[in-house]
Amino acid sequence: MNKKSIRNKTIRLSGSELSEFSKNLIRLHYPVQKKELLNRTINQDLFSVLDYLPEKFVDLLIIDPPYNLYKKFNTNSFKEKSVADYAGWIDSFLTELKKILKPSGSIYFCGDWHTSISIPLVLEKYFIIRNRITWEREKGRGAKQNWKNSSEDIWFCTVSEKYKFNTDAVKLKRKVLAPYRDNSGAPKDWRSDSDGDFRLTHPSNIWNDISIPFWSMPENTDHPTQKPEKLIAKLILASTKRGDVVFDPFLGSGTTSVVAKKLGRKFIGVEMDKYYACLAEKRLSKADGNSAIQGYTDGVFWERNSFPFSIKAQIKKKQP
Ligand SMILES: C[S@@+](CC[C@H](N)C(=O)[O-])C[C@H]1O[C@@H](n2cnc3c(N)ncnc32)[C@H](O)[C@@H]1O
Repeated sequence: MNKKSIRNKTIRLSGSELSEFSKNLIRLHYPVQKKELLNRTINQDLFSVLDYLPEKFVDLLIIDPPYNLYKKFNTNSFKEKSVADYAGWIDSFLTELKKILKPSGSIYFCGDWHTSISIPLVLEKYFIIRNRITWEREKGRGAKQNWKNSSEDIWFCTVSEKYKFNTDAVKLKRKVLAPYRDNSGAPKDWRSDSDGDFRLTHPSNIWNDISIPFWSMPENTDHPTQKPEKLIAKLILASTKRGDVVFDPFLGSGTTSVVAKKLGRKFIGVEMDKYYACLAEKRLSKADGNSAIQGYTDGVFWERNSFPFSIKAQIKKKQP
């Protein structure tokens, strides 16, 4: 094995793992109660599940659907639609998903710039739109006659005026560029320690501290549009408390369920492709003894490349 392949941590499934993990998956054929769904992966087309879900039992919906472009997801593919037809498609599941949210519930809805043209038209029919987070995901295909597409939107909505938002849980630890001091000479709003000068800042709606998963990261899978665990952790920490229920109707490789589990929340995911649903189960089993989320350490989100080297070295030493 060469050096590159040793460092490649991409999670895949063998044939025996596929048949083993598929035993954990469930399918719904009649209305079910909340307790039958908690911490499960439903391997089914979302549209064949919606009629069977209980009402008002979910605290947070994280929706990362196929974007409005051609994309192959293993056994299924999504075809680009007009802006109006894509909005119609979103509407056909949101009108049902609204029913499963508690009155205090929140929703995050992902899309790229093109998909984003349709999203708020539908969201405003059912929810109070509160913000649009823009994530600079960096990676994107260069274009000869257009700007490189390297941002994504995450629309934040709530069902009502009464909702959870835990700012302190999602503050960003940043290097201090202007180390102002007060009259006594003490640092103003920042701390100086052996690893440098840092400030805990309020989270804004521009996120540039998160990279997409790549092959040397332990969370990486071969799913084509896997979201980073750090990104999903921010959504879950801001809008839920421990024990709350998080629902993801387009689960993919399982990121939402895995992060919910690592953060002590309950989770339910729907994914129509069996291989991806089993990947989610494999990641969930790996999370049993390991709740680490890259970029989130000691209850703090670190600005990209600012995690102190001395701490990195200590963690590396501890790892077997
Ligand atoms: C954008 S990906 C989600 C990626 C996910 N957030 C992750 O981190 O891996 C969308 C997923 O929805 C699945 N999907 C598409 N249509 C579906 C449907 N009607 N019901 C259930 N799953 C569907 C696809 O197979 C794909 O894995």
